[in-house]
Amino acid sequence: QFADALKSIARREDFKAYIGQNPLIYRILRRAAAQYVTGDRRIHGLEAADRLQAKGYAVSLEYIGENTANEEECKAAVSELLALIGDLRERGTPARVSFDLSHIGLSLDTELAAAHLLTLAETALQAGIELFISMEESAKTDKILSVYEGAAARYPNIGITLQAYLHRTAEDLSTKLPASARVRIVKGAYQEADGVSIPRSEALDDRYLELVELAVRQGNRVSVATHDERLIEKIIDQGWYGKPEVEFEMLYGIRPDLSGKLKAAGHPVRIYLTYGHEWYLYLCHRVAEYPPNIYRAIAAMINE
Ligand code: FDA
Repeated sequence: QFADALKSIARREDFKAYIGQNPLIYRILRRAAAQYVTGDRRIHGLEAADRLQAKGYAVSLEYIGENTANEEECKAAVSELLALIGDLRERGTPARVSFDLSHIGLSLDTELAAAHLLTLAETALQAGIELFISMEESAKTDKILSVYEGAAARYPNIGITLQAYLHRTAEDLSTKLPASARVRIVKGAYQEADGVSIPRSEALDDRYLELVELAVRQGNRVSVATHDERLIEKIIDQGWYGKPEVEFEMLYGIRPDLSGKLKAAGHPVRIYLTYGHEWYLYLCHRVAEYPPNIYRAIAAMINE
């Protein structure tokens, strides 16, 4: 409930206006977000990507945004993503580009999001860039998967994120993905109704492991996207890890000690970077999924 309340405040237009009009509030929240977000502008994401790649990490890049409220803003988001793909091509940066389908139209019209995805996929294919679709609330899962399936049938450079906490995911994994498709497996970040998902628990960890095994056996290329060290150790012990088609992926600013340790041990590690003016939304997601982050945010504000 805390998580939901925080996210719904962050989505409110009056909240955006409030922080826009209050330089002090803006500055202290911005400082709290700095741990997780590379900056407001594309160049911040690109420079962070270069720095991490020089250290031996692969990267994903997200232009932050979700639930875009009108067609014009959806088009603006698509333009930004096209510009990002263009810059990555020019710089020779082999980053993966990640986004929410609701950022490019899903909340308005499924067909609009599908058309935007095809535009992005065509440009990305020509640039040799992989696109990755994030997974949102379970109310959107069917739509997201159907848009993904339509586009992935035509474009091999599109991956999809699946949430281990949803009861439906094993079936989605075995029925909705083309052979050798890239899948990112996450635990899941949203508050869901009873009966739809399971909470953080050993049962969830077991399910996560089963999904990774299923994906590997199906021949999917898997991004194991978690910061859960115990789970990661179990995955390494299974021996799937180290295959070229399995990698670890972690969010920028979360457990850099662990990503460094894995990289030093020779495992492929990808860091998920974000940039954009809606950084406060992303900050709320990170605090909501891990409430102790509220203390870090407050410490950052006090130090301002
Ligand atoms: P868990 O929540 O059990 O945390 C394990 C440990 O990791 C914690 O004990 C703590 O040490 C550390 N940790 C985790 N979250 C932290 C945080 N916010 N701040 C500080 N420390 C933290 N979700 C979704 O629903 N749809 C999506 O598309 C995506 N996409 C995505 C991409 C990538 C690359 C990652 C890594 C994650 C996502 N997620 C996501 C988020 C995911 O569902 C999940 O909420 C987070 O990864 C946290 O869960 P963990 O698997 O890390 O385990």
